[in-house]
Amino acid sequence: MGALLELDRLTVSYGGLRALSDVSLVVPEGTVVALLGPNGAGKSTTLRTISGLIPPESGHVVFEGRRIEHLAPFRIARAGILHVPEGRGIFPSLTVQANLEMASYGLNIGVDVPAEAARLFPALESRMAQFAGTLSGGEQQMLALARALLSKPKLLLLDEISMGLAPIIVNQLFAAVKEMAVAGATVLIVEQYVQAALELADYVYLLDKGRVVDLGEPADMQETGVLASYLGGG
Ligand SMILES: Nc1ncnc2c1ncn2[C@@H]1O[C@H](COP(=O)(O)OP(=O)(O)O)[C@@H](O)[C@H]1O
Ligand SMILES: [Mg+2]
Repeated sequence: MGALLELDRLTVSYGGLRALSDVSLVVPEGTVVALLGPNGAGKSTTLRTISGLIPPESGHVVFEGRRIEHLAPFRIARAGILHVPEGRGIFPSLTVQANLEMASYGLNIGVDVPAEAARLFPALESRMAQFAGTLSGGEQQMLALARALLSKPKLLLLDEISMGLAPIIVNQLFAAVKEMAVAGATVLIVEQYVQAALELADYVYLLDKGRVVDLGEPADMQETGVLASYLGGG
């Protein structure tokens, strides 16, 4: 399977501050790639650059063989890249049902999105008529993830979906991502919750101070202890 996404020596700065230096990374179609690293390493910046929110200083973002780093965010989204940013990408003043229906608006995916969401996350089933802003934090993240997964993007970018949530909720979120991954979804996932990410990922990149400092299969990365040295026990 070819590379769906390729980052080629991306360098990104905020004003004068360098956030990424020569970051190269490949996401093959149908795989889950985890991007790990300590706070401030540049993980979110990497995802923001892919989705067109920050223009790189140099380097390329190649999606399906085409350079996209000069495209506006809506064009990148339309090309099939969906970014679930840190925090929750939902509409709090719409109902849960409306949030889910919007995820499939204009797509011809032949899926009853609210019904599928309730199957993925049974906690959402009785909440459909409620305003999304009244859900618990965990339920809001389930909703955000259900919207993202069920709109079937070509590439899903997930930024710390586990942030601030209880382990029992995190397990449900990861199980849903796993199910979609097994069904063929391609995912680039940023996580603080290293163990869960390692169980899900086919391949891992470790980022520190804006540079890729190691890469490999999860088992190899754990064996060498490199993750623990950067992430403190990970
Ligand atoms: N909007 C911003 N303006 C200026 N600097 C930023 C901004 N966002 C992030 N940074 C800086 O860029 C670096 C990488 O941040 P980030 O990509 O958020 O790291 P991570 O997601 O790995 O924690 C950090 O040094 C951070 O302080
Ligand atoms: Mg971040």
